Amino acid sequence: MSTTPSTEKFDAVDVIVAKRDGHRLTDAQIDWVIDAYTRGVVAEEQMSALNMAILLNGMDRAEISRWTAAMIASGERMDFSGLRRPTADKHSTGGVGDKITLPLAPLVAVFDVAVPQLSGRGLGHTGGTLDKLESIPGWRAALSNDEMMAQLDGPGAVICQAGSGLAPADRKLYALRDVTGTVEAIPLIASSIMSKKIAEGTGALVLDVKVGSGAFMKDLDRARELARTMVDLGTDAGVNTVALLTDMSTPLGLTAGNALEVRESLEVLAGGGPSDVVDLTVALAEEMLAAAGRPGEDVRAALADGRAMDVWRRMIEAQGGDADATLPVARHTEQVLAPADGVLTRLDAYAVGIAAWRLGAGRARKEDPVQAGAGVELHAKPGDAVRAGQPLLTLHTDTPERFERANEALEGGFDVAAEAPAATPLILDRIAAS
Ligand code: URA
Repeated sequence: MSTTPSTEKFDAVDVIVAKRDGHRLTDAQIDWVIDAYTRGVVAEEQMSALNMAILLNGMDRAEISRWTAAMIASGERMDFSGLRRPTADKHSTGGVGDKITLPLAPLVAVFDVAVPQLSGRGLGHTGGTLDKLESIPGWRAALSNDEMMAQLDGPGAVICQAGSGLAPADRKLYALRDVTGTVEAIPLIASSIMSKKIAEGTGALVLDVKVGSGAFMKDLDRARELARTMVDLGTDAGVNTVALLTDMSTPLGLTAGNALEVRESLEVLAGGGPSDVVDLTVALAEEMLAAAGRPGEDVRAALADGRAMDVWRRMIEAQGGDADATLPVARHTEQVLAPADGVLTRLDAYAVGIAAWRLGAGRARKEDPVQAGAGVELHAKPGDAVRAGQPLLTLHTDTPERFERANEALEGGFDVAAEAPAATPLILDRIAAS
């Protein structure tokens, strides 16, 4: 028997049954169910059942587009059309040591493309961009829309907290999916990510879909399907969208942890830094510039000659940060040593991410604080020769009682062998509009 009030256009049970029986949902059903759920008319248990039916039976391209549009319509939409520059943004599905946004946003702004990067905090083993930047003394994540526009007009790049007005239906749905085993449904992941990105109002979008042990998507085929779904959604919404599939079987760069990653980003902005971080920053910057109508720029030169660093300083200072401040350092360190002579053949991203999290760099619940200085520093990457007893990792924390659990996370997380492994490419695939 229905529990839906008769003044409503549809009955939630009919929508659930339609998807359960493998039918496509109509535009009107989708618009209604998202709106009615946001208003509290569709009950949590009904939306749980519908999510599960979507996970099991899927949705076609037009259904996912409409579902995404309905989530966007649940909140506000930003408008950057008044800016004198085109806009481009990047979204990463999240990985260990993924600090790319930090050098990338100012680098792209060097070429007169504005970067409105609305970011989040970390939860679980992957870090959050805002947590990283908050290790810079004085830096402020929350900006008004006017402050954001002023920054896009001035330095040209802003990394700030997404306001609660963007796609509020997604926040409610995501929390529900988290506790009902339905996070993994590709239509739901794609619409969740893209509703926020499209509502943010960027003209061009580059997706960095991570693949491997430290990523949300462990498997290349599923990552490719997610990337294709998101690229189609962006394209259908008029956003010039492209995706790179990139390796996340080992951490990016040589650091995982908030201030540690800011320090490494500064090395990249100063023209140095680990080659994988530089290469991915450059590849994503080239994609963002091309998607925004500025192909063929010499992006590496802007890292080498300090132009990207200049934008970084202006961007940090505009948000109250002291670009010259000494970054926080953890009070205690402990080293993990190589067990034998040979080659490091594997250093697992997930193990390092969990260790960094247990050391205090991440949070288990949304309201938990993070330690700015905590994390893991790598002294070798897969393919490097190592000697027995040489430091492989340095663990950093303010609370030394955390070392034991971090070391447990790293047990079985790396291998040293006689033979070098075949090198894994950093960029595994590229998915463009079809
Ligand atoms: N990130 C999101 O924003 N939504 C998802 O569903 C998964 C990852």
